[in-house]
Amino acid sequence: MNLAAVILAAGQGTRMKTQVPKVLHPVAGKPMVCYALETVAALGVSQTVLVIGHGAAQVRAAVSNCQPAIANLQFAEQREQRGTGHAVLQARDALHGKSEAVLVTYGDMPLVRAETLGKLVERHASSRATITLLTLVADDSMAFGRIVRDADNRVTGIVEEADATPEQLAIRELNCGIYCFDAAWLWERLAHLQPTGAKHEYYLTDLIGIAAREHRAIETIVTRDATEMLGINTRVHLAQAEKIMRARINTALMLAGVTLTDPATTYIEADVMIGADTVIEPNTHLRGKTRIGANCRIGPNAIIRDSQIGDDCVVLASDIAESVIAAGVRIGPFARLRAGTHLASQVYIGNFSEVKNSFVGEGTHIGHFSYIGDAELGARVNIGAGTITCNYDGTRKHRTRIGDDVFIGSDTMLIAPVTIGARARTGAGAVVNKDLPPNSLAVGVPARVVRQLKH
Ligand code: UD1
Ligand code: CA
Repeated sequence: MNLAAVILAAGQGTRMKTQVPKVLHPVAGKPMVCYALETVAALGVSQTVLVIGHGAAQVRAAVSNCQPAIANLQFAEQREQRGTGHAVLQARDALHGKSEAVLVTYGDMPLVRAETLGKLVERHASSRATITLLTLVADDSMAFGRIVRDADNRVTGIVEEADATPEQLAIRELNCGIYCFDAAWLWERLAHLQPTGAKHEYYLTDLIGIAAREHRAIETIVTRDATEMLGINTRVHLAQAEKIMRARINTALMLAGVTLTDPATTYIEADVMIGADTVIEPNTHLRGKTRIGANCRIGPNAIIRDSQIGDDCVVLASDIAESVIAAGVRIGPFARLRAGTHLASQVYIGNFSEVKNSFVGEGTHIGHFSYIGDAELGARVNIGAGTITCNYDGTRKHRTRIGDDVFIGSDTMLIAPVTIGARARTGAGAVVNKDLPPNSLAVGVPARVVRQLKH
């Protein structure tokens, strides 16, 4: 069955009280509309149309960054929000005559699982119904439309909460807003839909009553997992979705061999990857495109964003962003690694050290209270406590180069641009404003070479 998808995302999201289009608010680090697009893409749809309206330009731009990228995606603009039926109609030009079936879902339901949509699509394909809809049986109505059935249990229509009689309000079977339609029937009937109901809008749900009156086959797939059907209308819903998504991510990681000492206080975003036998301690935040190897110990209190960390690393109470860290590296507590940091294997970064835009060679130690910025450090360098690369002259940034096996004495100021030759040493408190040759010992302010060292 050739299936196309329409995702509705034009609504304003008034109750979010936001300047940002509702569907761009992130859940576990990812705009919620990306979940909807991904889930639909997982079904192997031939084409997807995202119906946008409020903040259309922003939504278009953000969607192009969804990971993984969404194939065969088109946008349809709904300039005025005149109801769900009117919204789907905006996709007609893009999809009419292009598919046998059309799946409709929303951009503000990030918790819907691909398996659930898969079941709906399968049922639709096997039953050849005109409409197959996903219904939820739950005690809390969440203000969803009610599924009305006749004495033979056949669906006769959907009634919106605002239009329902007291008897209809008591119905526990709810409309999730997710449907499969026979494409030819949908596009034909949608064009003739009239505004109805309390809001005088074009209700997509009216198509169910129309199909019933035409004696068309209407199938349902019933779910009982209300959490999956949570639509985000307020920031309270957003926080609920965040919590549920976080629990899903954590559970999947644990089942894949990652220890989470306390999942309730472990915050891992959707696209993070972690190797087996790594232990994540409490209050750790792993964000963006972070990848962590096997056998690491991360946290407590680590914040890592868009970074790669090799196997067998230890990161304790540190902040790391846009950095690449090889295997066997120890970091923290209280280190800060900023963008462009690259640590080779077996490096040690101790407390209160900041590294930015620098390469640090294998086995080098930066133990205490240092700033290393715009620098290249060789292997087995020892950076004494309080060492600073003075990389900024007030106008420009300059580089510091330190060769292999250099020993930088405590409180050395390295005034960049400056190069320290291999195996050189500086005395405590040296202010180095000229290059030092290999094997030299330099001391003082400004530092001068006092001796050549034998090695
Ligand atoms: C809709 C259903 C209701 C169902 C509920 C599930 C209708 C008439 N009612 O109600 O039966 O229980 O969803 O959540 O369909 N949208 C547009 N353009 C519009 C109107 C809406 O893009 O003109 C989008 C919204 O951004 C949202 C989705 O469609 O993502 C649903 O719209 P919403 O107004 O929340 O529908 P409900 O009234 O909740
Ligand atoms: Ca809604």
